[in-house]
This record gives sequence, C-alpha cells and structure tokens, in this order.
Amino acid sequence: SVEELENIVRTIKNKLGSKLFLPGHHYQKDEVIQFADATGDSLKLAQLSQENKEAEYIVFCGVHFMAETADILTTDEQKVFLPDMRAGCSMADMADIDQTDRAWTKLINRFGDTILPLTYVNSTAAIKSFVGRNGGATVTSSNAEEMVRWAFEKKQRILFLPDQHLGRNTAFNLGVALDEMAVWNPIIDRLEYEGELEKVKVILWKGHCSVHENFTVENIKDIRQTKPDMKIIVHPECRREVVELSDLAGSTNYIINEINRSEPGSSWAIGTEMNLVNRIIQQHQDKEIISLNPHMCPCLTMNRIDLPHLAWSLESIDQGNAHNLIKVDKTIAADAKLALERMLGNN
Ligand code: 13P
Ligand code: SF4
Repeated sequence: SVEELENIVRTIKNKLGSKLFLPGHHYQKDEVIQFADATGDSLKLAQLSQENKEAEYIVFCGVHFMAETADILTTDEQKVFLPDMRAGCSMADMADIDQTDRAWTKLINRFGDTILPLTYVNSTAAIKSFVGRNGGATVTSSNAEEMVRWAFEKKQRILFLPDQHLGRNTAFNLGVALDEMAVWNPIIDRLEYEGELEKVKVILWKGHCSVHENFTVENIKDIRQTKPDMKIIVHPECRREVVELSDLAGSTNYIINEINRSEPGSSWAIGTEMNLVNRIIQQHQDKEIISLNPHMCPCLTMNRIDLPHLAWSLESIDQGNAHNLIKVDKTIAADAKLALERMLGNN
C-alpha cells in the first residue's frame, strides 16, 4: 500500500541520514517530491550535487541526464542511482554522438574554426563531452543568455544542442535576427537554411521537448479571448511564436519566482510541465492559475520515478544490493566535466 511504501522510504532515509541525498527536480510527482532533501531546477540540482561532499548515495529523482551530471560532478566514492532506468528524456535522445560528430565535421569544413558548441544540460554525457573537448560549455534554461553571451565573446558562431527552441529564444533575446539562425537537421545531415551562409551566427540542432512543444498559438488565442486579463508565462523550451505571444518567458525557476511574487488575486496561464503547474496551483489558492494547454499531460519520463520505484531503489541500497547505478565512463566524464565547470564557474 501507499502507506507501506512511504514507511519504507521514511525508515531508510532516517537510517542513512546524511549518507543519503535525495534531490528532486521540480517536474517530479508530489509522491516523490515530499521526500526530496532538496528541490530545484536542473542548475540548482547540479550545483547541490557538486557541493554535497557528505552523501555516499545520491538517489536522483529526475531524469537520466541529470543523474549523469550528478555522477560527473561528484567524487568516485559517491554513488548516483536513478530509481527507474527508463526515466530518460526525449529531447536528450534527439542528439546522439555519431550524428553530432558528423555534423561537426561538416560544419568545420564549411565555417572553419569560427564555431563554439554549447549544449543544454538536457543532453547525454557523450554530447557534453564533445562540447567540453571543443572548448564549449553546457547551459541550463536559467543561464542560457549568460552562456550564449560568453560563447560569442570567444567565437563568431555557436552550435546550440539539442533544443532548437531554447537556442532560438535565447539568441533572439540577445539580438540575433531569425535569419541569422540556421537549423541543423541530423536526420538528413544538412543545414536547413535559405540565405547567405556567411550570415549565419547560430546553428540550432533540430531537437525539441515533446512536453513544451505542446503549447500552441491556438492555446494563447483561446486565453486572450476568454480571459483577457490573464497573464501568460511560458518556458523557453516552447516554440518561438508561443514565446513571442506570451507576456513572460523564462526558466522553471523564473516561472516559480514570478508567480510567488505576484499579487493575490492575479491570474496566470502557465506553459510548462504539468506536475509543477499543479503544485503551483495548490500553493497559490489565492490566485487563479491554469495550464496554458487544458489538455496538457505531465512529462512521461519524469513520471517514471514514482513512489514504488523510489522505495525499491532505497531498499536495494539498504540491503547492500543497490540497483541502477549511473556511472559515466571516465574518458567521457573528464571532458563533460570541463563543459559543466565552464558553466558552473560562470554562475
Ligand atoms: P530547467 O530545470 O533547467 O528549467 O529544465 C527544464 C526541463 O525540461 C528539465 O527537464
Ligand atoms: Fe526532457 Fe522535456 Fe521531459 Fe524535460 S520536460 S525531461 S526536456 S522531455
């Protein structure tokens, strides 16, 4: 029963004390978040994992790339576990390392040594390693502008992996025109671009988040019509035209902060993951808050981490037979760490 599972989690947490660290991403289910030692967006959870020198076991309640990041940033003695190995990320899966190597060779042939690669942390360790090896850095949604600015101080052009929308929205905010951005299509190994190639400043990998792509211009028009006073706030993983028509756009943290500091009685439509939106609704009963898309679902891979998997994972650790260890290959981890530290050093 739920009570039994909760008891297992509680008992093992008490027993292991500070030997165990349980970070929980904001998009996790309530049944998991209630047990998290810290909640946060991907930047905060990466920072906390790096700072935590005490924990022997880090049971990461988030998705696979976040657990990999925690493993890269912690010591060899610290072990990172993911309660369900199927908790991946469809966006991270949209850039594999062979496709990226092929793209890089072609881009270097075309543009010479003028490109710096950046990758959203929502990517595999192998992609982070490729980026680190080539002088680039990781970014998260809360520091993307800072990191793109940093990259442009070093090189004339950037390759932004794997989320075209975060890349486009961020570059646009920094004054890069849409016709100075090209899209790299990894399926056909080619740039999608109509204009003069010399003009290109940003090469966007053709990946996206299957959750945030579900917010549409139609959703915005509906809200504007039915609730003209409602403010619309969205995550920059949403398409350009959705961000364009919204009132505000920013990272998970930014969204939480904006709602927190808004007046009682204010009304909001939020364009981000549903577990988080539901939690925000619960926490702000004095405000009118809805999802921008009324038919929105939670992120299915985030949802694979549930109470039964958490209890099972903790039990396996407690019994000395731990399952689902996340261990990034040493050679990959070294270069990936360079990319992560260039970001963390800038924050
Ligand atoms: P942030 O936590 O950086 O806002 O990322 C959102 C996300 O999609 C995580 O998977
Ligand atoms: Fe990946 Fe999108 Fe889910 Fe985040 S919300 S884990 S980017 S699929």
